[in-house]
Amino acid sequence: MTRHFLSLLDLSRDELYGIVRRATELKRMQHRGDIHTSLKGKNLGMVFEKSSTRTRVSFEVGMSQLGGHALFLSPRDTQLGRGEPIEDSARVLSRMLDIIMIRTFEQGKLECFAAHSRVPVINALTDKLHPCQLLADMQTYFEHRGDINGKAVAWIGDGNNMCHSYINAARQFGFHLNIACPEGYDPDQAILTAAGDRVSVIRDPLSAAGGADLIVTDVWASMGQEEEQVLRKRAFARYQVNDELMAQAADDALFFHCLPAHRDEEVTTSVIDTEGSVVWDEAENRLHSQKALMEFLLLGR
Ligand code: CP
Ligand code: NVA
Repeated sequence: MTRHFLSLLDLSRDELYGIVRRATELKRMQHRGDIHTSLKGKNLGMVFEKSSTRTRVSFEVGMSQLGGHALFLSPRDTQLGRGEPIEDSARVLSRMLDIIMIRTFEQGKLECFAAHSRVPVINALTDKLHPCQLLADMQTYFEHRGDINGKAVAWIGDGNNMCHSYINAARQFGFHLNIACPEGYDPDQAILTAAGDRVSVIRDPLSAAGGADLIVTDVWASMGQEEEQVLRKRAFARYQVNDELMAQAADDALFFHCLPAHRDEEVTTSVIDTEGSVVWDEAENRLHSQKALMEFLLLGR
């Protein structure tokens, strides 16, 4: 059966832990200069309907390091952008490619593509979820502090795609998540409810951060919400991750941001550019964790 990675919930807890462990192993091998071509001859299609720096480069370089090849497919110059049905595109692409990653708007479009694909499909970000980022984030936490199981994580900001994937990660990796978001910017109710008492919505950002082992934020206006920027800047003003907020967290708390960041909006320069902020490791780990994910989906290990 073809396995897809459309959400963190598509894999078991053990499979996710296995990928995170393998990611650290692949990272060591890469840093040592080992040549490891487990995906030789495999072709990855990369469909991007939104911009990207990290996701594009990490998938393309990751596939090349594993001995395979990656193709960038933009709606601007494929028939996808001219209205060819998503089902037909999936049928055709999956007869030529071995694995496909998609960054798009609607989760439903990604699910439709996967339902008509013969090969594994990876969610490289939708409006709803960003599970690849969570693989890198979990790897980063494990490398700096060990297992995240039983730890306290605070999400400060928008109840967006990243927040939703943090909720799913709380279920799968067994940490508690406090979410501080302004009213009207809550995460999806169904995703929240399914997480039960793993997750609490706490309006006050300072309380949410209290004693946390990890503080995470993201931009206030995601891709596709550019016209709401001014409105959101006002709504989120109290939700900045700054020194006062970090002071509420545990002494050795880490700071994560999936990037790109807007300095002195959602996070101050004093927080993102100092010790405890491991955002560059987080970005690098996109490469290693996605290599582990592609090995898992293609080789079953
Ligand atoms: N964090 C992340 O997905 O970055 P890009 O948008 O640059 O891919
Ligand atoms: N929430 C952000 C994440 C970018 C990686 C967005 O969707 O734009």
